[in-house]
Amino acid sequence: MSEITTLSIPAPDDFHVHLRQGALMRAVTPLIRDSGIATAYVMPNLKPPVTTTEQALAYKKQLEELAPGVNFLMTLYLSPELTPEEIKKAAKAGIAGVKSYPRGVTTNSDSGIESYETYYPVFRAMEESDMVLNLHGEVPSDPSSDICIMNAEEKFLTHLRTLHAAFPKLRIVLEHATTQAAVETVKSLGDTVACTITVHHLTLTVDDWAGQAHHFCKPVAKFPHDRAALRGVIREAHPRFFLGTDSAPHPRKNKEAAGTAVAGVFTGTPLLLPYLASVLEEFGALERLEGFVSGFGRRFYKLEERHPAPVATRAVIRLKRSEVVVPQEYGFVDDEGEKSSVVPFLAGKTLRWSLA
Ligand code: NCD
Ligand code: ZN
Repeated sequence: MSEITTLSIPAPDDFHVHLRQGALMRAVTPLIRDSGIATAYVMPNLKPPVTTTEQALAYKKQLEELAPGVNFLMTLYLSPELTPEEIKKAAKAGIAGVKSYPRGVTTNSDSGIESYETYYPVFRAMEESDMVLNLHGEVPSDPSSDICIMNAEEKFLTHLRTLHAAFPKLRIVLEHATTQAAVETVKSLGDTVACTITVHHLTLTVDDWAGQAHHFCKPVAKFPHDRAALRGVIREAHPRFFLGTDSAPHPRKNKEAAGTAVAGVFTGTPLLLPYLASVLEEFGALERLEGFVSGFGRRFYKLEERHPAPVATRAVIRLKRSEVVVPQEYGFVDDEGEKSSVVPFLAGKTLRWSLA
């Protein structure tokens, strides 16, 4: 059998990306357009968090100016300020979903939630308006209950089951799954429950981030058998598992500050598809790339029906088997006027595929 040397796929969709604000937003947003993506599902964990329809629409306008042609789908941050009335209004305005962060588990999650029951009226309104609930699936660490970042996702899964049972029609996405337990749980639930998977969790295990700030993200990468489960579900082309990069850029100095590396891996660059083609090929799933990045997610999110993109954005992206070295950093001038940079995933490493 001769080796595949080129690939053509419909422009992919990233169903979980952090595009930040201010100078960092201006630096990273054009890069996602250059990655060739059609749709960016944008996280609301800004400072302050995006909690109203007006804020989300204003944010969307800024992003569209920076990356014309990308279909930006906006989300609201689940917090006590969010009411069923605001949900109805948001749905009418085309806001696609609501993101829930348990309090304190990750970057900018100080406004995150403490109990899900409080939000049942909001979830009911979301179910009625067919908005999507995006879950950061980790419970806060609690040494007295033996909970730490290694089992925080597995311990969260009971909340996912409870929410799905209470709102069977509510579309729920368990974001950036990292464990075999999460994969099995999502598979066992109904068609309204899906799961995003990142590039870095397909690549890394715990040994790769312990002591390596640029591989540190929440949730952390887990055991080899967990990574194998993520890879396995892509290999079997399960339609409820699709790409959400969780690309989460931070200025280099915040990642490398002594003792306090912030969480987040930066993959939303023009090398997004080369990363994916290279790693999927490594575990024998290159032919699954198209469904994973430009099929399953759009179907779950009902893009054609609910969030149609301008025709021009659905381009065909071509990849070729040709090596490319990941840049060491992307420079920008920060909000204080200082020289800064963001370090992409696998900086300095060679990928086997590049954009044609
Ligand atoms: C994200 C960020 O930096 O905004 N960080 C991360 O490690 N994934 C927040 C998040 O999605 O948890
Ligand atoms: Zn995220």
